Amino acid sequence: MGWAGTTGPFGIFIQNWGHDLPNRHQAFTGGRQSLRMPDDTGSGLSRRQVLAVSGTGLLAATTAGQAPARAAAGRLRSDSHHGGTPEQIHLTWGDDPARSIVVSWASPGQAVRPRVRIGQRVIPAEERVYIDGLNGSPVWTYHARVLGLRPGATYGYAVTADNDGNAADPFSATFTTAPEGRAAFRFTSFGDLATPNTSWVLSYGQSAYAVGAVESFQPLFHLLNGDLCYADLNPAAQPEVWRDFGNNNQASAAYRPWMPVPGNHEIEFGNGPQGFTSYLTRYTLPHNGVPGLEGRWYAFRIGSVLFVSLSADDVVYQDAGAFVAGPGPFTPAPATGNQPITAGTSFYIQGYSGGAQTLWLETTLAAARRDASIDWIIAQMHQCACSSSREGNGSDLGIREEWLPLFDRYEVDLVLCGHDHDYERSFPVRGFDIGAGTDVATGTAVDTRRPHPVTTVDSGVFDTSQGTVHLILGCGGTDANLDAYGADAADPATRAKVFTRANRPMLTATPGVYERAGADSVEDATWSARRDTATGYGIAVFDVNPGTEAGGQTSITVSHYHAVGADPVNPATGEPGAPTDDYTQFETFTLIRPRSDGRRWHAKQSTSAVRA
Ligand SMILES: [Fe+2]
Repeated sequence: MGWAGTTGPFGIFIQNWGHDLPNRHQAFTGGRQSLRMPDDTGSGLSRRQVLAVSGTGLLAATTAGQAPARAAAGRLRSDSHHGGTPEQIHLTWGDDPARSIVVSWASPGQAVRPRVRIGQRVIPAEERVYIDGLNGSPVWTYHARVLGLRPGATYGYAVTADNDGNAADPFSATFTTAPEGRAAFRFTSFGDLATPNTSWVLSYGQSAYAVGAVESFQPLFHLLNGDLCYADLNPAAQPEVWRDFGNNNQASAAYRPWMPVPGNHEIEFGNGPQGFTSYLTRYTLPHNGVPGLEGRWYAFRIGSVLFVSLSADDVVYQDAGAFVAGPGPFTPAPATGNQPITAGTSFYIQGYSGGAQTLWLETTLAAARRDASIDWIIAQMHQCACSSSREGNGSDLGIREEWLPLFDRYEVDLVLCGHDHDYERSFPVRGFDIGAGTDVATGTAVDTRRPHPVTTVDSGVFDTSQGTVHLILGCGGTDANLDAYGADAADPATRAKVFTRANRPMLTATPGVYERAGADSVEDATWSARRDTATGYGIAVFDVNPGTEAGGQTSITVSHYHAVGADPVNPATGEPGAPTDDYTQFETFTLIRPRSDGRRWHAKQSTSAVRA
């Protein structure tokens, strides 16, 4: 795995892991990982010094207030008197976003009487702790559910504990609750964020600017589409990576909810039945009502929009969770009591819910379409049904088989993904083309259930009651940009790779070393409408217009802003780049649909098929 040097956002020389294939990042080699302290930037600067010079441009307003708390948390880490100092402070919606919110944080040690103060109210926080299954570190997290709020109201809050090093002046911020009824609002989205600490595999300075970009658009909330920080690729130091991630996000996530979904890199060895313990302990998410599987998927409603956040690792064929490539095993710290993980082991969790997630999804979508006050349904997940990235993962038949028929039947308007580190937009799709794929190894036909575009005219206005638009937004901040897209010299059509079966680890020519293959099939991506070749970094901004009259039209204006020049190396030009706070508009388009308060809704055919 080669690495290249570049200049980071803090004006210091940083290392990154280049622009090679993501599959190479998805392995770690037993015995070679060293534990690095998060202060180790390789620059000779302490973390506090780095933070002190990072408050420029977009970040100035929000990091300035955070730096003392963050620095204090690091300085006081070994001081038990101040071990309860809050850090990694972030918000998520409660079950009713108009009236409830959850304040969550971590602290270096156990907090004494952790609590949130809002006005005259003091709300005690629930403690949730885990011991990392690979390095044995304890992680202390705190969660306060704040109920009884007023819709569309802005509140100030403070977070503290008896052993808070900042007790005299505790961390404080503001948030705004969701509006009630049909109302205009803005949200933003990207996935694949990582951390700005380039000591960690797949981290990159752009992740700090990405957080600043969210703040610059002042959305009501942000959707974070999986692969949060790639802690699994730093197996000896997973809690430290999560800490850098949480402290980077705090500059936005303490001020507005950041709603995540788990991606393949949230699957960690030693941390629970699906590897999600780090994720689940840090986030308190709306209830899904499924015993034993809370937190993995959920839905919440803002105004006339239902947001459905899914755990696609449950349905995808691709094996991309934690993996020991070999030749040696990975040996957890002795304190964990966990056995060495042998070479060739991958943590593959397809089917983990036993069908419970898809059952919940259908029930949730059907209820939404029976509800005349819900117009829009927006799904959020990590992996992709419609991605044509050339060097990235591509599309996955598992999503097409399991969920696209439901998206068709219940008119899901928009699907937001991550996984491939680029920006791509599909035409509205409904139904599928049979037999449109080719097996890469054998050249034989394979049925990829290619999503069928209902139009291939890129008019800029799309009626999503006729088809679902898919957006790939894996453009957060991780360093392996993937903004090169499939093409075939013999065929001008865009090519997409598709996983149609599991790519479990296989021995390579190197004794004892395993790898996981890329996608097994390809298809002409007739569904692909727009791809950003300028950069793999950006943020999508969504403005919901509820319309003015019953039975009228409602719309969502979508603008994608991109950070040109941020690619470590641009695949189209070969130009080296560096992190930047300069996000400029790439494209704007509009989604429209009829409001639900003026029509009777009828379920669509779920299995419409068109022969290719
Ligand atoms: Fe991913």
